Amino acid sequence: MVQISSEVSMDKLVSLCKRRGFIFQSSEIYGGLSSAWDYGPLGVELKNRIQRFWWREMTQLHDNIVGLDAAIMMHPRVWEASGHVENFTDPLVDCKQCKQRFRADQLEEKALAEHKCPHCGGELTEPRMFNLMFKTHLGPVADNGSLVYLRPETAQGIYVNFKNVHQTGRVKIPFGIAQVGKAFRNEITTKNFIFRTCEFEQMEMQFFIHPSEDKKWFEHWKEERFEYYKKLGIREKKLRFHQHGADELAHYAKIAFDIEYEFPFGWKELEGIHNRTDYDLKRHMEYSGKDLSYLDDGKKERFIPYVIETSAGLTRTVLTVLSDAYTEEEVGGEKRVVLKMHPLLAPVTVGVFPLVKKDGLAELARDIEASLREDFSTFYDQGGAIGRRYRRQDEAGTPFCLTIDYQSKEDGTVTLRYRDSMEQLRVPRDNLTGAINKAVKEYKRES
Ligand code: GAP
Repeated sequence: MVQISSEVSMDKLVSLCKRRGFIFQSSEIYGGLSSAWDYGPLGVELKNRIQRFWWREMTQLHDNIVGLDAAIMMHPRVWEASGHVENFTDPLVDCKQCKQRFRADQLEEKALAEHKCPHCGGELTEPRMFNLMFKTHLGPVADNGSLVYLRPETAQGIYVNFKNVHQTGRVKIPFGIAQVGKAFRNEITTKNFIFRTCEFEQMEMQFFIHPSEDKKWFEHWKEERFEYYKKLGIREKKLRFHQHGADELAHYAKIAFDIEYEFPFGWKELEGIHNRTDYDLKRHMEYSGKDLSYLDDGKKERFIPYVIETSAGLTRTVLTVLSDAYTEEEVGGEKRVVLKMHPLLAPVTVGVFPLVKKDGLAELARDIEASLREDFSTFYDQGGAIGRRYRRQDEAGTPFCLTIDYQSKEDGTVTLRYRDSMEQLRVPRDNLTGAINKAVKEYKRES
C-alpha cells in the first residue's frame, strides 16, 4: 500500500460527501439554496457522534459542568443587552459592475484602496455596516412589537439562565453550562461548502469563575480544548492556536484564542476560546433589572462572575473530521479512497459481508450482524465482489468489516478486517464484541 495523498481538494470532498450520502445541497431539486446543506444518512450519524463526543467530554467527564437546551428565539432585549444589535456587524461592499458582494475586512488592502473589485476589476461601493442577525416576527402581525431574532450564538441562552441553573443545579463557582444548538448568521460571504453557512450548529460551554482567577481558567480551557481535538482523532500537525489581535476581538472579549485547523483552503478558525469577563452578566443585569450576582457562602463575598467561553462549531467540526480523514492510497495498482476517522465517529462501525449469498452464508452473516446491533452500528452488504464491498466501506469511513466464509460455518470464526491497515485476522464469533471494543479504545491513526 502506498499513500498517494492525505490532503484533499474541496471538489473531491464535496463529491464524496454527495456520493456516499454524507451531505447534500439543500433544496437540490429546485436548483439548491446557496449556503444551506442537508445531512444525509451518513452525515447525520457523523454529526450526532461528534456532538455526543463533545457532550460526554464536557459534561460526563466534569463534575462541575451541567447541560442546557435553551430556545432559539429569545426576548429581543437579550440582543440589545448582549451588544449584538449594535455591534454584530460586518462592513459590506458591492461591485457596481459584476454585483458580487464582499466583506471589506476580508478584501486585500490593495483592492480596498483602489476600490477595484478583485473579481472583475469593477468599481466598488463604499463599505456600509450590515447586521448579521436574521429577523423574524412572532405572531401574525409583523410590527416592531413582534420583532424577534434568530440567535447568532447559543451563549446568550446560557447567560439568561445563569441564575436558574445555579439555584436549581446545586452547582458552585467555578462551574460551567454546556449547550449544543443551531445558530444563524446572515453571512455576506458563504463559501467552502459547510465551513461558513447562514444556519449552523455550535457547541458552547460558558465557565463561570471568580474574576481573580480568569488567567488561570483561560489557560486551562485553552489547553484542554486543544487536547480534545487530538482525542477526536485530528492530526496534531493540522492544529494550531491563533491569538486575536486588538482589531479582531469580538465586542465582548478581553482576550481570545482560536484553535485553527489547516483546511484545504488554508488555516481557519475551528473553535474560539474567549475571556468574556463579566460583560454579558453585567449587561443583562442592566437591561433586565435582575440581580445576576453570585454569593460565595464560604467567603461571604458577592460578585459578578467572569466567564471563560469555549465555542466550537459542530458543523465546522464535521468538515474538519472529513478533511482530516480523507486519504488516497494505491493498493495493487488501484486507487483506494479511505476516510481514516476515529472509530467512535464513524457512521457505521462494522460492515458485515457474507463471502457469497448461497450455502447458508447470507443467513449466518445476518445472524452475526443482528447479534452485534446492540453494541455497534452495523451495515450488511452482500452485493458485488468482496473487494468492492470493502472499498465502499472505506469511503464511508467504516473502521471494521467482517467477512463470513465457509470456514465460519465449520469453526465459528470470521475475518475481521481493519480499515486503515487493511490487516485481516480470524476472530471467533463470540469474541467479536470484545475485539472491536478493544480496537476502538486503542485506535491510533498512523498516517
Ligand atoms: N459565542 C461565541 C461565538 O459565537 P464565534 O467565534 O463567532 O464565537 C464560534 O463562533 C464558532 O462557531 C466558530 O469557531 C465556528 O466554528 C462556528 N461558526 C461561527 N460562524 C459560523 C458560520 N457562519 N458557519 C459555520 N460555523 C460557524
